[in-house]
Amino acid sequence: MLPSDPNPAETPVTPTFKLALPALALAALITPAQAQQAPLKVGLMLPATGTYTALGDAIEKGFKLYVQEHGGKLGGRDIQYFKVDDESEPSKATDNVNKLIKRDQVDVLVGTVHSGVALAMARAAKESNTLLIVPNAGADAITGAQCAANIFRTSFTNWQPGYAAGVVASGKGYKRAMTITWNYAAGIETVKGFTEGFEKGGGKVVKDLSLPFPNVEFQALLTEIAAQKPDVVFAFFAGGAASKFLKDYDAAGLKKSVPLVASGFLTDGTLEAAGASGQGVLSTLHYADNLDTPRNNAFRKSYALTYKSNADVYAVQGYDAAQLLAAGLTAVKGDFKQRDAMVAAMRKVRIDSPRGAFTLSPQHNPVQDIFLREAKGDNNEMRGVAVKALADPGRGCRM
Ligand code: BEZ
Repeated sequence: MLPSDPNPAETPVTPTFKLALPALALAALITPAQAQQAPLKVGLMLPATGTYTALGDAIEKGFKLYVQEHGGKLGGRDIQYFKVDDESEPSKATDNVNKLIKRDQVDVLVGTVHSGVALAMARAAKESNTLLIVPNAGADAITGAQCAANIFRTSFTNWQPGYAAGVVASGKGYKRAMTITWNYAAGIETVKGFTEGFEKGGGKVVKDLSLPFPNVEFQALLTEIAAQKPDVVFAFFAGGAASKFLKDYDAAGLKKSVPLVASGFLTDGTLEAAGASGQGVLSTLHYADNLDTPRNNAFRKSYALTYKSNADVYAVQGYDAAQLLAAGLTAVKGDFKQRDAMVAAMRKVRIDSPRGAFTLSPQHNPVQDIFLREAKGDNNEMRGVAVKALADPGRGCRM
C-alpha cells in the first residue's frame, strides 16, 4: 500500500509510523536519555484559509514528509504537532502565535507564509526566546534588522528573487520597466530588489503599481500598463490570486505585447489554474521543478507517492525546515535543553535540499542559487542560473 498523508490531523497529534527497522534493532540505537524524552512540541502556524491556503498546505506536507522519512522522529525525538490557522492576517498574528507559545508551550515554531504575519511571529519569538524556523515568508527584516540568534529561515528574503529578476531583465536588454504587486512587505521588498538589480544593469523602473493584499481587481492597473507600453513588466503575486493575474494579463492582450518577468511565486503551484495564460512566463526563484538531480528526483517521487500531488517550492521549503531542525537536534542527541549547542549546529548547517545544497548566511538566511525558469505545462523548467550563490545583504542585522 502507498503511504498516505503522515499526519492529516488536527491539534495536537503524535503520529504513529511503521518503522523501517525491526523494533529490537531500533531500540539498540536509542540511548537511555533519548528513550526518556517526551515528544518535541512543534507549533505549525500556517494559513489554512484565504489565498495562501495551498502554500500552507504544501509547507506542512513537506515538513511532515521529512519527519515520516525518518521514522516519525527528528534527532531521535518523537514529534507532536500543534496547529494554528493564521489566515494570512497580520492583525491576528500576535494572538495566534501566543496560542502556540503560551497556551500550547511549543518548543519550536514553524511558520509562516505571509511576511506581515511572520514579522509579528518573529517579534513574539524573540521576546519569548522561542526557536522559530520560517519556511516561506520573505520579509527582509526577519534576517535583517529584526534578526536574532533563535530565528532561522529555510526559504529566501523578498530581495533575493526580486534582485535576480532585475538582473535577468536588464540582461535581456530591456530599458523601461513597470512593476505590479500587492502593497505589503513581500510585494514592496520584492519590487525593491528588482529595481536594484534592473537599475544596476542600466534599466529604469518608470512606474510602480500596487493594490492592497489580497485584492485581485487588476483591471485598472493593466489598463495603465497598456497605456505606458514599458519594455517589460515585473510582477509579484502568489497563491490563488497569481493565476487570476496571469489570466487577466493575457485577457488584456498584454501577454502578446509586453513581456512579463516575475518573481517565481507567480507561477509556482498556479500553472494548472492559469492554463494557457501562464505558459512561457519567465521567472526567478531558488527552485525549479525539473532540477535533474538524484536529490530532487527522490524528493519529488516521495512527495508524489505520499500525497498524490506534485511538490512545489513551498513543499521544498517545509521539507528543509524539518531538515534544519533535525540537524540541530541530532547535534545534541535530541536534548532540546542544549539550545546553544543546537543553534550553533544549525548556523553551520549544509542542507542537502531538493533545490541544491545550501548553507546559511550569518543572519540565518539561505545562500542559494536563484534559477531562471520558464513555465511549461504544469512545471517551471530551469533555463539557467540567474545569480549564483546569492546571499541577502542582511541589512541592519546585529546579532
Ligand atoms: C510573503 O508574504 O513573504 C510571501 C507570500 C507568498 C509567497 C512568497 C512570499
